[in-house]
Amino acid sequence: MCGIVGYTGNKEAYPIVIKGLKRLEYRGYDSAGIALHQGDSLQVYKKAGKVAMLEESVLGENLHAFTAIGHTRWATHGEPSDKNAHPHISPSGDIAMIHNGIIENYDAIKRDLIAKGYLFKSDTDTEVLLYFIEDIKIHNQCSLEEAIRIALKRVVGAYVILLIEKSAPDTIIAARKGSPLVIGIGKGAHYLGSDASPMLAYTKEVVYINDYELAIVRPDELILKNFGNERITPFVQQLDLDLAAIEKGGYEHFMLKEIFEQPQTIYDSLRGRLSLNPAQLTLSGITQFGNELSQAKRIVILACGTSWHAALWAEYIIEELCRIQVEVDYASEYRYRNPIIEKGDVIIAISQSGETADTLVALEKAKQQGAIILGVVNAVGSSIARLSDAGAYTHAGPEIGVASTKAFTAQLTVLHLIALKIAELKGSITAEKFTQQLTELAAIPEKVQQILSTQHEKIKLIAKKYKDAKDFLFLGRGYSFPIALEGALKLKEISYIHAEGYPAAEMKHGPIALVDEHLPVVFIATKDFYHEKIMSNMQEIRARKGQVLAIVTEGDELSKEIAQDYIEIPAADEMLSPILSTIPLQLLSYYIGVELGLDVDKPRNLAKSVTVE
Ligand code: F6R
Repeated sequence: MCGIVGYTGNKEAYPIVIKGLKRLEYRGYDSAGIALHQGDSLQVYKKAGKVAMLEESVLGENLHAFTAIGHTRWATHGEPSDKNAHPHISPSGDIAMIHNGIIENYDAIKRDLIAKGYLFKSDTDTEVLLYFIEDIKIHNQCSLEEAIRIALKRVVGAYVILLIEKSAPDTIIAARKGSPLVIGIGKGAHYLGSDASPMLAYTKEVVYINDYELAIVRPDELILKNFGNERITPFVQQLDLDLAAIEKGGYEHFMLKEIFEQPQTIYDSLRGRLSLNPAQLTLSGITQFGNELSQAKRIVILACGTSWHAALWAEYIIEELCRIQVEVDYASEYRYRNPIIEKGDVIIAISQSGETADTLVALEKAKQQGAIILGVVNAVGSSIARLSDAGAYTHAGPEIGVASTKAFTAQLTVLHLIALKIAELKGSITAEKFTQQLTELAAIPEKVQQILSTQHEKIKLIAKKYKDAKDFLFLGRGYSFPIALEGALKLKEISYIHAEGYPAAEMKHGPIALVDEHLPVVFIATKDFYHEKIMSNMQEIRARKGQVLAIVTEGDELSKEIAQDYIEIPAADEMLSPILSTIPLQLLSYYIGVELGLDVDKPRNLAKSVTVE
């Protein structure tokens, strides 16, 4: 949540920082701002709205600077407005600061400062921290760096802060605890960002900053210290990411591009891991904990949102293939419960961003109690990836569209691989079944491609037909139930239409009261163990004049007859068919959102990585 960018070097800073903010807008987009170091003054521009509005508002201004910091905000304390936008300026006007995160004890600090006579201009926790830092600097007559260190000792919360100071024209000071920060190393320049996308056009050498680290960044120098003021040697890594991966590449929206990337991203998630003839599965991160996993009494999966839907699906798959009890929990609930962790329990964490605050804290809690943490993470080098003892990356590439699409199908793919690996290690799967599952998995990318090529235009038309509905129900059973939940979530996010997902059999226990001629009911009615039961459920909706839109298996004439509208997907193993069913549901949400004229890449109120609780 919130994107931060910084630059100090030998080029004009403004265009670099603005471009960087646009790359990070997926993290929050309710206001934006920039502070430019102009030699003897700090110039701050900020504006409610998207980065483009900030750009418009500074046309004609003197934007010359070689050092600058910029921010795109997702409001926590204080409504989105010009005054609450970052950067904030200290009372003396000497320091500008941006912040991603949340200062939980800001109120107590604010009260102390008010008692000392400070007056605040905004409603943000950020301004409180900045004033606190300057107050310490003046009172202790110390450097800004020292004042930051002292201030952060009292701060409770999560943050990355970037500060520039009038007296240090080429220096950015950054500190991190709980929110992400990457520093790119250029020639005579350094780049700072919430992720690597703002610096990708300039450098591939980066340093991921850890919690409790403070960086002093100048064009030719990067000094890294811990909060105890001890020097740390920066660990420089090479980015394995292309610029094309974070650009739209001719698609109208990132979401559409990412939906269409799925044959490749699913393939990438299998590549180097799965081989046929003979059937083999290499997952070194999982095999490393082979003994623990094959003897595990229980696996607990923690995640949020779409990743939680992947977790729910994995529960069905792992219990079926591995015969290990699985519990799925919302990380946000788990972190505040008093959960029972027993010897031999294994935790799996699922996260696209690897930065979701609730998931991170829940994992820290589980880790403190001795659990082994396996990560299924997309963002390489992210906090959750680093906290995990081992795991398997999802290899979906950067996901920019705020609503998750390709990361979800990559999660399902990798979770299936993990389940198969555990089953193999444990001996709970026959060689025939193992080979059959790997063969089916290997065929998924091509089947996804087939859906995209053959159903795409039809889904556009269906979207036009249903776009004015006020509510939707999504129903599925067994392995398809989590996909119904995901279909409903996607529609809500992208179109702002109210939608609910249910196990189809639960319909009779309440939701059926909603059914009338105005309610579209989306069924995942593919050929599996539940198929006949699902057909009965569809009949029950039709009998009450509901509109049935069904995802059906190719050639299933009976289901096609019952539904008013249908989308066909290729036949697949019943455990894997949900990966295929996901694709038309994503396209349906996308096209309904587009039909309604909404910003599908940046739906209102959302942010891509939820780094505050
Ligand atoms: C929905 C969506 C969110 C995320 C959730 C967890 O489209 O993207 O529900 O799935 O915020 O995020 P990660 O996976 O980054 O931990």
